[in-house]
Amino acid sequence: MTLKVSMKMLILLVSAISLAWRSHGVEGEISISEEEDAELERQLKIINKPAIKVIKTHYGDIYDCVDINKQPAFDHPLLKNHKIQMRPTSFPKGLFDKASSSSVEQPSNVMPSEIGLKNRCPPGSVPIRRTRKEDLIRVKQNPSDFQPLTDRASGHTFASNYVNSVPYHGAGALIAVYNPTILNDQFSSAVMWIQNGEKNTLNSIQVGWTVNHALHGDNRTRLFTYWTVDGYQRTGCFDTRCPGFVQVSTEMAPGLAFENTSLIDGPKYITKVVIYQITWYRDSSTGNWWLSFSENNVHIGYWPKSLFTGLATSASYVIWGGEVYSPSSSGEDSPPMGSGLLPFKGGKEACFFNGLQVIYDSELKDPIPSLLHKRKIANRYCYDADEVEKYNDMYYYFHFGGPGGQNCGF
Ligand SMILES: *[C@@H]1O[C@H](CO)[C@@H](O)[C@H](O)[C@H]1NC(C)=O
Ligand SMILES: *[C@@H]1O[C@H](CO)[C@@H](O)[C@H](O)[C@H]1NC(C)=O
Repeated sequence: MTLKVSMKMLILLVSAISLAWRSHGVEGEISISEEEDAELERQLKIINKPAIKVIKTHYGDIYDCVDINKQPAFDHPLLKNHKIQMRPTSFPKGLFDKASSSSVEQPSNVMPSEIGLKNRCPPGSVPIRRTRKEDLIRVKQNPSDFQPLTDRASGHTFASNYVNSVPYHGAGALIAVYNPTILNDQFSSAVMWIQNGEKNTLNSIQVGWTVNHALHGDNRTRLFTYWTVDGYQRTGCFDTRCPGFVQVSTEMAPGLAFENTSLIDGPKYITKVVIYQITWYRDSSTGNWWLSFSENNVHIGYWPKSLFTGLATSASYVIWGGEVYSPSSSGEDSPPMGSGLLPFKGGKEACFFNGLQVIYDSELKDPIPSLLHKRKIANRYCYDADEVEKYNDMYYYFHFGGPGGQNCGF
């Protein structure tokens, strides 16, 4: 009990200390008092669970194989008596069909980007990236990097398309994977948002790729997830940085790096992400939101229904697009989005989403064209997104991105 309450305290504490520390100046020159150091050690003991096995990736990440029933998710007060679901019990029609329109043949220079641990965790355990002291310090220094707010939030800029109205139980897309260059206090992402509600009651689940030094400690392009149930106020966080997301895969985890990234006018690497809700009414797991890689049927894990309010029932809209962040007070150029080139360059040079699909009426389907909308773009010379179009009667797609620069926000 004390442990579970302390997660909330921890978040408050982290934000309190961050204010004190930000005044100490640039990264690397931080001086930590003995007291602060002891507090960090205490936090790390709560966050990092005992490892059955330790896996190191070739790029230096450390993953602890943690007992599946003792993973960080279960520190969440709402998941105290949660019964873990080892795999999805039902699928929307068409989701894993080879013939579904999102599985259409890609050109030969378009390949899936490799991702995943080469060494799996032993059965009964799941890989969780170990949090180090320097990770906590970076979070404290860049608190707003951890708040992918709405498009009115300062420092965040979006170029995206969305589909609304029908109650949705999931969505999927193929995303081209790039590695835009960012400064250490910025991020640049390609994201699929599944949402319900507005403002303080906004429920949001997000998945995609991101380059986010503050979050991950390097400039690699990584798989990320995010969730919130109160419009980013008090709940939610990236990956498994706070309790909530229940991981079941022994080889895939949020935060892993994509091994291959696309080059402008070179080979294109893509990733396929799918999020869907169990809706079979007789199932006790109804309402859980699963994250899967449908290309190879890997189920990474799920967000339990009990975390959510609006999303416990369904999503009311889905967004696909790019998001960048740069502290608005920094005077820095806004970072590149996607490949760094504007959408008019086309799929050879600009980043893209394709195979856009949504789940409604228990089936994976193309979005209804009349419900597709393009969001407002702040400055078309910085970032833009094409309108969604249908390619050769096969799948829905659009290009997005741009170079960034000065005066790119609202
Ligand atoms: C990431 O890229 C930025 C800008 O190029 C650079 O300043 C920074 O040192 C890089 N960080 C790492 C960890 O490589
Ligand atoms: C992807 O990257 C990995 C690791 O760098 C490499 O071994 C592999 O050959 C690459 N795959 C392709 C298709 O380029």
